[in-house]
Amino acid sequence: MSGLFVTMEGTDGSGKTTQVKLLKEYFESKGFSVVCTREPGGNVISEKIRNIVIDSNHKEMGSRTEALLYAAARAQLVYEVIIPTLKRGDIVICDRFVDSSLIYQGVARNLGIDKVADLNLFATEGIEPDITFFLRLDPEKSIERKKQLNKLDRIENENSYFHKKVFYGYIELAEKFPERIKIIDAFADINTIRENIIEYIEKLLLQRSVL
Ligand code: TYD
Repeated sequence: MSGLFVTMEGTDGSGKTTQVKLLKEYFESKGFSVVCTREPGGNVISEKIRNIVIDSNHKEMGSRTEALLYAAARAQLVYEVIIPTLKRGDIVICDRFVDSSLIYQGVARNLGIDKVADLNLFATEGIEPDITFFLRLDPEKSIERKKQLNKLDRIENENSYFHKKVFYGYIELAEKFPERIKIIDAFADINTIRENIIEYIEKLLLQRSVL
């Protein structure tokens, strides 16, 4: 597939959404066509699944159900948006992807990374990001930020032990796949974060001889 697939990962409230927007602007300034999307969601069916999975009234939801719902939402996004965009040779920037499930469901919910990876291999038809940014922000700070912005969803409402597991899970995963996952200090100011991300992107575009 000829397009470029970029994903943004991080704890809740780490500033992913802002950076997705800034990265889109960067790509467009270079003349690329970009589709930005988010998980869970990004199309009619997956947004409906999102509403079910993050609804804080659904306290009885089992971890396996949760993992399957995220994978189902992802399967539809891959099928409907990601594959067609990459096939056209365009760029996809996705706010969260499989890594989120590996960490939130595999590590924090204790389902096991390998099991969750298998489930997602089926859901994604094996599509993998070309590059992933992990916005590293202290879990306490991220949840604090989120609380100030809006009401917490079902996952954000988990205790601080859960969010710590998510944070350290990401660090371990990034250390395991340093070629793909780049750790970005998300405590820095917005513009510094943007520049750090773009530095990696420019390297990647040069490797592909498109800059
Ligand atoms: P998201 O919309 O990214 O929340 P935020 O913008 O607040 O970071 O994701 C919603 C919640 O779903 C978030 O708490 C993380 C969680 N999540 C998983 O647990 N597994 C997944 O596979 C995905 C994509 C998200």
